[in-house]
Amino acid sequence: MRLPRQNYQDIERIIEFDFVRATEAAALNSLQWLGRGEKELADAAACDAIRGMFDLMNICGEVVIGEGIKDDAPGIFKGEQLGTWMPGSPPFDIALDPIDGTTNISKGMPNSITCIAAASPEEGVKVALRDIPSFYMMKLAYGPQVTRAMQIVGIDTLKIESPIEETLLTVAKALNKRVQDVVVMMLDRPRHKEIVAEIRRVGASLRMIGDGDIAAAIGPAIQGSGIDLYVGIGGSPEAVLAAAAIKCLGGEMQCKMWPRDEQERAQLIAEGYEEELGRVFFTDDLANGKNIIFCATGISDSALLPGIKTQGPKTITHSILMRAKSKTVRFIRASHDLQNKTIRLRSDSREHSI
Ligand code: FBP
Repeated sequence: MRLPRQNYQDIERIIEFDFVRATEAAALNSLQWLGRGEKELADAAACDAIRGMFDLMNICGEVVIGEGIKDDAPGIFKGEQLGTWMPGSPPFDIALDPIDGTTNISKGMPNSITCIAAASPEEGVKVALRDIPSFYMMKLAYGPQVTRAMQIVGIDTLKIESPIEETLLTVAKALNKRVQDVVVMMLDRPRHKEIVAEIRRVGASLRMIGDGDIAAAIGPAIQGSGIDLYVGIGGSPEAVLAAAAIKCLGGEMQCKMWPRDEQERAQLIAEGYEEELGRVFFTDDLANGKNIIFCATGISDSALLPGIKTQGPKTITHSILMRAKSKTVRFIRASHDLQNKTIRLRSDSREHSI
């Protein structure tokens, strides 16, 4: 069967709400694993729901960035096809993290979300969502108020390579705050020991998180998140997903590949990435073009979104849905009636109560 061709160019506008249904379904289906010490099962539940929702969507979706190579998780990986692939359906490149913060879920801790970025083909854009070959990237993310101050007021330009003290002073100036009121979020990892010591010496306010740096990196671009700056080394796929969101929000992120050791560096060089090792990637380099959708649903509370709450017979989800072209940002609070709501899972192609 052939779908009637729609003579309408802005395909994201038509399909975007189906993407947020997929993250809602992933969050709802993984909720049963919150605090149960089973991160793989939580991940599998999220993947099953995402695939189940995509099975209903008439798109030709190809995963270009999937689960990070660091995970043995039962994830959705690069190369997987999502959607019905009915002839005539619109093509999308898809980057996703069924759960960012699987350890958090397993411990019932805050800061886990499920998210998807998708891009339809666009003239002049070869690769919309860039698959970075290194395991980790160094990241520096800030919000629209800082980018505006750099453009309009002529505040010094932030550089990922600058000493953190300089960065903190620039951000304080841009936000018209004292440096001790600048709130920095960072993954709590031994590799951040020196930068943590520097942030404390300068006197800025530090918020460490156990896992989940997609929400953390988007945080500074969200008004009222309470986060002014995200810094530190985290996963590369997570950087691209965060970049897609930050681009829609008008903030900025700078990233550099951060090989874990000499062996990874040598491997990247052997694969032809020597020049890229020194390159600073901005949001537009990681998420290129305008035909980009980003959506996420909170599982547990984060700087980006509240987590799922059950209130009597209803379960409440909070999601964000936005597009790079229009820059419309929707916060969607959905109330799911537990008596009636079902989600479709790929594993048995059936509807399930939650
Ligand atoms: P998972 O939920 O896929 O395990 O990722 C969690 C996470 O904290 C990411 O948000 C972050 O980018 C990455 O892991 C950091 O990696 P590591 O745990 O190796 O420091």
